[in-house]
Amino acid sequence: MSTPRSPIILLVAMAENRAIGKDNKIPWHIPEEVAHFKRTTMGHTLIMGRKTYDSIGRPLPGRTNIVITSQADLAIPGCRMAASLHEAIEIGRTLAKKIFIIGGGDIFRQSMVLADSIYLSVIHRNVEGDVFFPDFSEREFVKTSCQYIEASEPYTFEIYERPDALKIAKES
Ligand SMILES: NC(=O)c1ccc[n+]([C@@H]2O[C@H](COP(=O)([O-])OP(=O)(O)OC[C@H]3O[C@@H](n4cnc5c(N)ncnc54)[C@H](OP(=O)(O)O)[C@@H]3O)[C@@H](O)[C@H]2O)c1
Repeated sequence: MSTPRSPIILLVAMAENRAIGKDNKIPWHIPEEVAHFKRTTMGHTLIMGRKTYDSIGRPLPGRTNIVITSQADLAIPGCRMAASLHEAIEIGRTLAKKIFIIGGGDIFRQSMVLADSIYLSVIHRNVEGDVFFPDFSEREFVKTSCQYIEASEPYTFEIYERPDALKIAKES
């Protein structure tokens, strides 16, 4: 019997115009969305680019933090370091938890083809940004959930899943 594979989930909040960041910060603050991020990821594995780590500024507690960087001598206390996205996923797979890829734009662009699911919070306005979430094909992912969230700034939480047939094709 084969061991179940850790699912790879892209977790992102984006504005209507797909902006996700500006000046290495998230250009909105919605405490309920932050709390949702924490509940969803607690106990699991997080993979992020080095710039996203810099913008957070500390390892997120209760989760394995894996930071991708090309800087071979960079070590961050409390984080596992990876020299590539594939190395980060290999580390994640040894931990047998869900793997959440949490950004930023550079890492989302590289990981889209590997994602089983996308958890997407949509903020209902255009926001000035310098980093954007890549467009993804409706042929590759199916929207399986869509929930309007009443919050200090309301947003919509959507789940997209890669159809099983495509998952199997990807693995073979
Ligand atoms: N709204 C959201 O949900 C959300 C989530 C996360 C982040 N963000 C925002 O996104 C922005 C940051 O995104 P970003 O695209 O600028 O940067 P990023 O994806 O967070 O990090 C890019 C860095 O990751 C490393 N890297 C990327 N690909 C690599 C590879 N294949 N091999 C080795 N290292 C690799 C490099 O680090 P080195 O330079 O150290 O080599 C690169 O400079 C910020 O504004 C942040 O606030 C938004």
